[in-house]
Amino acid sequence: MKKGELVYEGKAKQVYLTDNPDEVLVWFKDDATAFNGEKKGTIQSKGIMNNAISSFFFELLSSKGVSTHFIRKIDERSMLVRRLSIVPIEVVVRNISAGSLAKRLGWEEGRKLPHPVVELYYKDDALGDPLINRSHVKALGIATPEQLNTLEDTALKVNEILMEFLAAKNLLLVDFKLEFGTHRGEILLGDEISPDTCRFWDAMTNEKLDKDRFRRDMGDVEAAYQEILKRVGGELVCSR
Ligand code: TMP
Ligand code: ASP
Repeated sequence: MKKGELVYEGKAKQVYLTDNPDEVLVWFKDDATAFNGEKKGTIQSKGIMNNAISSFFFELLSSKGVSTHFIRKIDERSMLVRRLSIVPIEVVVRNISAGSLAKRLGWEEGRKLPHPVVELYYKDDALGDPLINRSHVKALGIATPEQLNTLEDTALKVNEILMEFLAAKNLLLVDFKLEFGTHRGEILLGDEISPDTCRFWDAMTNEKLDKDRFRRDMGDVEAAYQEILKRVGGELVCSR
């Protein structure tokens, strides 16, 4: 597998071509941003930890029948994935009130929701990723109703799998964000699943073990990512 030209650079990852046009290499950076890039920083070894954690979660989800872009972990900071044409919708699932939901509804953080709440955001940096609904998706023409059903059904299935797995590790899955894309006509789960894109709280103490420690200047950011990696059991070094 040859690492080719850099084709895309996001806030936390780079994407490189490979010698197979169907596959790309995702390289995880240590850069961290918040508030649509307004706050910038570095989290030591974040790329290594997020690659390990994401690779682990993608393997877990694949083993439970979720179709993902993940092929295999290549090295400390990179994974090989199927090349996707991104669907510009971020799907957020929430189990406990926190972040923008707490703010929007005027709720305190930590309230258990009666059922998982699914939200859609239009993936557009210039607009600041606004909250949208089904009707907006239709008007924007960014996904068919069938594709949107797949996105929402998959997001809820991912929620069940991850919640159950994390509960056994004494972790609460407060909320998370997923991204999807199409590959040869099929919708696949893409992007990453890590403390950058999920809220994880310790089940006993409610201690935050995710990127909120960076967003809110709480300190011990690296230690929180390390704790998640330790509890999840992802491998730092590639086993293949
Ligand atoms: P929010 O409460 O700020 O809307 O975040 C909901 C979830 O989505 C949370 O787990 C963090 C994740 N998220 C991202 O992955 N990227 C983002 O840009 C934002 C705003 C949130
Ligand atoms: N990814 C976001 C950014 O745009 C921030 C966040 O995760 O809160 O910087």
